[in-house]
Amino acid sequence: MKSIILIAPPSAGKGTISKILCEEYRLPHISTGDLLRNATLNDDEQGNYIKQQMNLGNLVSDDIIISLVENRIMDNDCTNGYILDGFPRNLKQAKHYDNFIAKKNINMGIVVLLDIAREEAKQRILGRVSCSNCGAVFNLYSNDTRPRIAGLCDRCGATLTRREDDNSDVFDIRFSTYLKETKPVADYYESKGLLYKIDSSVPLPKVLEQVEEIIRREND
Ligand code: AP5
Repeated sequence: MKSIILIAPPSAGKGTISKILCEEYRLPHISTGDLLRNATLNDDEQGNYIKQQMNLGNLVSDDIIISLVENRIMDNDCTNGYILDGFPRNLKQAKHYDNFIAKKNINMGIVVLLDIAREEAKQRILGRVSCSNCGAVFNLYSNDTRPRIAGLCDRCGATLTRREDDNSDVFDIRFSTYLKETKPVADYYESKGLLYKIDSSVPLPKVLEQVEEIIRREND
């Protein structure tokens, strides 16, 4: 099974799709947002710096993120592939990743861009709530992903909360950061003939269908 790299604007559905694909294909989910949110639980200088950058909508330093991702990829459960959600996020990270996988003899896998317009993504971010216990993600404005009981997780019943960076002002910065830093990564992979682009503004089952079709084709 090939690894999958998901590139997307904020709130395009990377996390939601990753979780479904991980269960379906039994691959570990490497979410850089989650790795960083875990790192903020340490009340130390680095944890506080990460929290500040995330709440401002800026990228965290390349050194920190590269070291977190590379260490995670070296874990045993990643030997047969993984789903990379949120990395690489700029050209420096992409080129670093190329060197890293070449050195470790890791297959590049499949690169998928989940494409969505700014306003649609903004709506999603303003409706997003996540479970404080199991991390499941829902959306108050979507029939596909709305929690069955308001305020409670469908999976474990714990309370649903909002992320601190999910507000209109920080979204605008995150989207601009995407255009300036991350969109060139998609262009980089496209120029190498590695990129699949899919429309992520459609209902979740349709997004999933498109990604599954790419995975089937690539693994044949
Ligand atoms: P990260 O956590 O990765 O945030 P993001 O990229 O902004 O992406 P999101 O998590 O907001 O959205 P998503 O695409 O996962 O969407 P989701 O599935 O939740 O990063 C956060 C911060 O960490 C960054 O700003 C940066 O500071 C730092 N960081 C991370 N990686 C870094 C890196 N490599 N380098 C440096 N810094 C880094 O879906 C969104 C909502 O829409 C949900 O409510 C969901 O239910 C709903 N939804 C999903 N799909 C659909 C659909 N098809 N139809 C309707 N609703 C849908």
